Amino acid sequence: MSSTPPCRICAAPVQEFFDFGRQPLSDAFPAPDADFSQEFFFRLAVGVCESCTMVQLMEEVPRDKMFHEEYPYFSSGSAFMREHFTNLAKQLLADELTAEDPFIVELGCNDGVMLKAIADHGVRHLGVEPSASVADVAASKGIRVRTSFFEEATAREIHAEDGPADVIYAANTLCHIPYMGSILAGVNALLKPTGVFVFEDPYLGDIVERTSFDQIYDEHFYFFTARSVQEMARRNGLELVHVERLTVHGGEVRYFLAPAGQRTPSEAVAALVAEETERKLSDLATLKAFGANVVKIREDLTALLTKLRDEGKTVVGYGATAKSATVTNLCGIGPDLVPFICDTTPAKQGRLSPGTHIPVKTPDAFSSEYPDYALLFAWNHAEEIMAKEQEFREAGGKWILYVPTVHVV
Ligand code: SAM
Ligand code: TMP
Repeated sequence: MSSTPPCRICAAPVQEFFDFGRQPLSDAFPAPDADFSQEFFFRLAVGVCESCTMVQLMEEVPRDKMFHEEYPYFSSGSAFMREHFTNLAKQLLADELTAEDPFIVELGCNDGVMLKAIADHGVRHLGVEPSASVADVAASKGIRVRTSFFEEATAREIHAEDGPADVIYAANTLCHIPYMGSILAGVNALLKPTGVFVFEDPYLGDIVERTSFDQIYDEHFYFFTARSVQEMARRNGLELVHVERLTVHGGEVRYFLAPAGQRTPSEAVAALVAEETERKLSDLATLKAFGANVVKIREDLTALLTKLRDEGKTVVGYGATAKSATVTNLCGIGPDLVPFICDTTPAKQGRLSPGTHIPVKTPDAFSSEYPDYALLFAWNHAEEIMAKEQEFREAGGKWILYVPTVHVV
């Protein structure tokens, strides 16, 4: 175990509780003829702050290595997620964007999956998105996008150009940003006193309960709880005023922050903090027990895949998710155990999985000759995927899942 770095929220020591070892960038899919000696690796380890309880990575990957013009994650790839964000847009339009000429800013708007519904209502908006690959798609849909990282300086520039925001929103983005002091200073600079900062990210409570360890990878720097977000807000002039549990992406929480003293916190905040305390969610012992469960999944999954290969069964990976980089690299799963992964994203097809170099193919490669088993890396989209892959089941195919334990359905 290495030395304890200071917490990125409060500077107290961070206690490491699990080391995933050497891991690649989870969204960097090398071409088959790439120079693999240039592939970037770092030590993926996770710890908990002794003071504010924020769970965070022990090492930070430079942001320009992750978010750039070749970023291959397009949010609109899931029909369920499109519906999720359309519903959220309706909720914000009804509850928060009710002032005269309201203005909403979204951090990490990606391909515009949420802002499209806002733009269609003619509401003033701006997406702030550093990855040109996805920002360009949002712009092509008529969404106003600024291709840059959000941070304090960006927020001040937006305020100068567009005035204050009624809502600042971020989905699956805030947890990606280690430099939180700058982000929250930016939120304070940009938000109206009556405004609200809403963000949703994978919830540590669900990750621990389900041992969904593959939520831990380079891009996911923080793993929030109501308690740690409450602390983070308090230290930055903000207040956690509401929380909502979400089922998407394997379990998330939507947090609502307001300038301190402006809104009365809902009962849901105290209830979730109390539940976390009862569960001892941020205790080192709880998190070390989570680590032991991860080791068990690694052993079980490797044993199952090895057995299936030795029996001559065919296994294909389904969904070249960022999460799958953690699974395949931690478990040593390469093309010998999983010959290819199918994925709907054109930017990933014809490329290789990060670190383990499993070819990524189109969904046609899956359906043209169904394998005996499909290892569902995109388990968070299980309902949607299993519904559309009925024929695979009818042909006798079985799904392998590894969350919360390794099992076959
Ligand atoms: N909001 C979309 C969703 O929920 O599907 C996209 C989430 S994607 C996993 C994370 C996004 O955050 C990426 O598109 C990335 O480029 C963006 N991002 C990373 N750092 C950022 C920053 N400092 N400001 C704004 N966006 C950022
Ligand atoms: P995510 O779990 O980070 O949202 O990534 C999902 C990945 O799975 C993404 O690369 C797209 C892919 N995918 C499919 O291949 N088929 C599908 O039906 C869905 C919903 C996603």
